[in-house]
Amino acid sequence: IAIEVTDRKGRISQLAGTEGLTLMDALKSQGLPVAATCGGAKSCATCHVYIGEGSPPLDLPDEDEVDLLSESDHYREGVSRLSCQIVLVPTLGGLHVELAPQD
Ligand code: FES
Repeated sequence: IAIEVTDRKGRISQLAGTEGLTLMDALKSQGLPVAATCGGAKSCATCHVYIGEGSPPLDLPDEDEVDLLSESDHYREGVSRLSCQIVLVPTLGGLHVELAPQD
């Protein structure tokens, strides 16, 4: 599943994510600096990403995810997501994400 990633220095890379894994797993396995300190338990927000324009539609975040993200100074409504909550499926091919600044 082809994903384009912009890191915090503006460098763009392409990665091939495995179906069924999370976007957070895919970013980490590519060596991108995603701390993901809670391991996907929706409690740290260190896996925060922005979804790029033109990306395929994603399921909406649940209330817990929005609550956690909105505590961040870098929260962007409608664009911010926790990458650990996005499970890669074939329809997400062409996804573009940008790593959010770290708090
Ligand atoms: Fe902690 Fe996503 S890894 S919230």
